[in-house]
Amino acid sequence: MLNPYIPKLARIIKIADQTPDVKLFTLEFADRKDRAEFSFTHGQFVMAGLLNFGEAAFEICSSAIKTKTFDLAVGRIGDLTEKLHQLKTKAVMTIRGPFGNGLAEKFYQNKELLLVGGGRGLIVMRSFILDYLAGALPAKKVNVFYGCLDEKNLLFKNEYKIWRKKFGLDICLNKPEKSWLGQRGVITVLFNDKQDFTDTVALIVGPPVMYKFVIEELQKRGLKDEDIFVSLERRMYCGIGVCQHCAIGPYYVCKDGPVFSWAQIKGIPGAI
Ligand SMILES: Cc1cc2nc3c(=O)[nH]c(=O)nc-3n(C[C@H](O)[C@H](O)[C@H](O)COP(=O)(O)OP(=O)(O)OC[C@H]3O[C@@H](n4cnc5c(N)ncnc54)[C@H](O)[C@@H]3O)c2cc1C
Ligand code: FES
Repeated sequence: MLNPYIPKLARIIKIADQTPDVKLFTLEFADRKDRAEFSFTHGQFVMAGLLNFGEAAFEICSSAIKTKTFDLAVGRIGDLTEKLHQLKTKAVMTIRGPFGNGLAEKFYQNKELLLVGGGRGLIVMRSFILDYLAGALPAKKVNVFYGCLDEKNLLFKNEYKIWRKKFGLDICLNKPEKSWLGQRGVITVLFNDKQDFTDTVALIVGPPVMYKFVIEELQKRGLKDEDIFVSLERRMYCGIGVCQHCAIGPYYVCKDGPVFSWAQIKGIPGAI
C-alpha cells in the first residue's frame, strides 16, 4: 500500500500574480506516472508545501478534465505561503492528495449550479467554471456570485471576459473605488426577488461570517438544505482523517469534507 504521508514532487511551470497577495501556480508532476495517474473531483484539495519546511491545504483550481498540469492559487498568510511566494518557475513543491470529498456531479447533474464565492472562495469555483466553459460539467447552467473587498483583490480578473460569454458573473465589492460601476456592499446584495432558483444547487465558499447570511437568502428562495453545499476550512495536518485536527462533530473536514451539504452539518455547533 502507498504511504499517504510521502509527497510527490511537482515542478512549477508558470506563476501569475493574481492580486498583491495571491499567486497562481501552474504545476506539473515531475514523475510521468504521477502525471498520468492524477485526477480529482471539483472541490477537492491537496496538501502542498516545501521539503523540510511544511505543507498546508490548497484547492485544486484548474480543470478536472485536463490534468497534465494543475493550478493552485496561494494567498500569502503565514510562514509557508510566504516561502511559496518566493519560489520561481522550475522550483519544486511537495504534493499529497487529492484529498477529501469535493462536490460530486450527481448532486448538480441537469440542475442549475449557483457558485457563491466570497474573497478567496472564488479559488474553489474556478475548476467548476473552467470545465463548464469546456462543456464538461453536467450542470444545466452555472451562475457565479462573487463578493470581494475591492478591485485590486479580484481574483482571475483576466478570465472574466471569457466567463461572461457563457454564464452570469455578478460581482459586488465591499470597499470599492469611486470609479467602480458595479454593485457595492456585502455578497447578499447580489440576491434579488427576480431571480429564479428553481432546480438549483448552490455551493458557498468564503469567510465564515458569510455562510449564515447566504444560506438564509437561499432558504428564503426555496432551496432545500440538501441542495445547499459549503466548503469548510480548518487547519489541517495529516489530510487523511488520522490526526483529528480538523474534527467537527462526527466528521473530519479533510476526509468527509471539505464540501458538506448544509443538511449534514447544520446541527453541529461551530461548524460555520
Ligand atoms: C480545504 C482547504 C483548502 C484551502 N485552500 C486554499 C487555497 O486554495 N488557497 C489558499 O491560499 N489557502 C487555502 N487554504 C488555507 C491555507 O491552507 C492556510 O492559509 C495555511 O494555513 C497557510 O499556511 P501558512 O503557513 O502560510 O500560514 P499559517 O502559519 O498557517 O497561518 C498564519 C496566520 O494566519 C491565520 N490563518 C491561516 N489560514 C487562514 C485563513 N484561511 N484565513 C484567515 N486566517 C488564516 C492563522 O491562524 C495564523 O494566525 C485552504 C485550507 C483548507 C483547509
Ligand atoms: S487533518 Fe488530520 S484528521 Fe483532518
